[in-house]
Amino acid sequence: MKRIAFAAAAAAAALGAFATAKRPSVVKGRFRPNYDESKVAPYTLEDPLAFADGRKVRGPEDWPARRREIVDLFAREMYGREPPPPETVECKTMEEGVTLAGFAIRRQVRMWFRKDRSGPHIDWLLILPRHAKGPVPAIIGLNYHGNHEMLADPQVAVPDCTWLRNGDGVTDHKPTEKHRGRRCDQRADSILPAAMLVARGYAVMTACYGQVSPDPVWNDRNPADRPGNRAWQGVFELWGARDPSATDGISSFGAWAWALSRGLDLAERTGEIDARRTVATGYSRLAKSALLAASRDERFAVCVPVQCGAGGVQLLKRDFGETVAIINRAFPHWFCRAYAKYADNEENMPFDQHLMIATIAPRGLLVLGFDDPWYDTKGEWLSCKAASPAWEILGRPGLPGGPFPAPYETRCIGPSIGYAHRTEKHGISAWDWTQILDFADNAFGRGRGR
Ligand code: GCU
Repeated sequence: MKRIAFAAAAAAAALGAFATAKRPSVVKGRFRPNYDESKVAPYTLEDPLAFADGRKVRGPEDWPARRREIVDLFAREMYGREPPPPETVECKTMEEGVTLAGFAIRRQVRMWFRKDRSGPHIDWLLILPRHAKGPVPAIIGLNYHGNHEMLADPQVAVPDCTWLRNGDGVTDHKPTEKHRGRRCDQRADSILPAAMLVARGYAVMTACYGQVSPDPVWNDRNPADRPGNRAWQGVFELWGARDPSATDGISSFGAWAWALSRGLDLAERTGEIDARRTVATGYSRLAKSALLAASRDERFAVCVPVQCGAGGVQLLKRDFGETVAIINRAFPHWFCRAYAKYADNEENMPFDQHLMIATIAPRGLLVLGFDDPWYDTKGEWLSCKAASPAWEILGRPGLPGGPFPAPYETRCIGPSIGYAHRTEKHGISAWDWTQILDFADNAFGRGRGR
């Protein structure tokens, strides 16, 4: 396979700046990420424009096959195979009313996947601009603790999740009233400024990720590979008994991405929404989910993963911050079993995350990071650079050039692929939302006045 030598690493290697042997990143259960740039060993990346057998992608006509090859590779080696499409998507409006001081309609829709409405369901909250002149674009994302957290409105139901991790607003593994409207509080690290999104002419669709697949962490002491593990509840019920020997079993990321596609199914049936103009977004594990959804489902027009962390945008052959060994130990259910073989063995991966993000091309991709070294946002920028040729061969501009931008600099945000990062805490802040809306407006050809 043709590989792109990574120039900066090679140059630094020539100066003898790198340690040679990689040290393990998990020792006796303790995480030891590298945070020292001078210890990043040289690495080489696969060429997004070369097939696995070495043939070159000669033009746009070859891209669908190369794209498929990459999507399949990630299904086999990392995220697990794609869940099957649902037998059916049955929807019922459970509640509807005017919200946000009259500027929006709140609609709560329950979705089932069997004709007889048995089995798992997902509860979607739709926030629709009430005074729009026609179908509007939509922002689609999952949330952590329930729809009632996203809109400060007493009518929004608390979801009936089977299991959520206990913590603030979650008691006995169930979401509680305590989190109602939490994401509307401007003091929060992560916000959903629903009134502003609606004012800018966007609909919002959200559902709780815990209804889709409960998300135990390693200290919940329930190894995810064990059959019957709580990770494999929620929509996993639809996919029958799990084969514990499969190396490409459906992962939680596969389920969350699948759920986002079901959100898109609902958008397509919602007259107020123009489903050709959707933005998949989220932060952290929900950013990775949005990325996987957009990678697999080409109906998503724009994807904005915010502060993805490992397993999302950042390069993992670049040894900085969270590693494959660390993430797999904490969250084995996020990936398929095949991925474990790359723990502290990233150099032998036949891929890196730049290939993953390349599968979004030629659609819009805006990567937003923050300066927590665990999340290696510089590795995200490098990943965007390495993926750029995919946009270019499809006739779209790649990542705007220049050195690694300073926090809050937006010069690396192009019309098709963009990257920016900021300081402060983990979450989607007002600053991130501004970037998301400007990028999406541009991608959807929406000017002032709309
Ligand atoms: C952990 C994990 C990250 C992940 C984050 C989250 O920090 O290491 O990879 O993105 O949790 O989703 O909250």
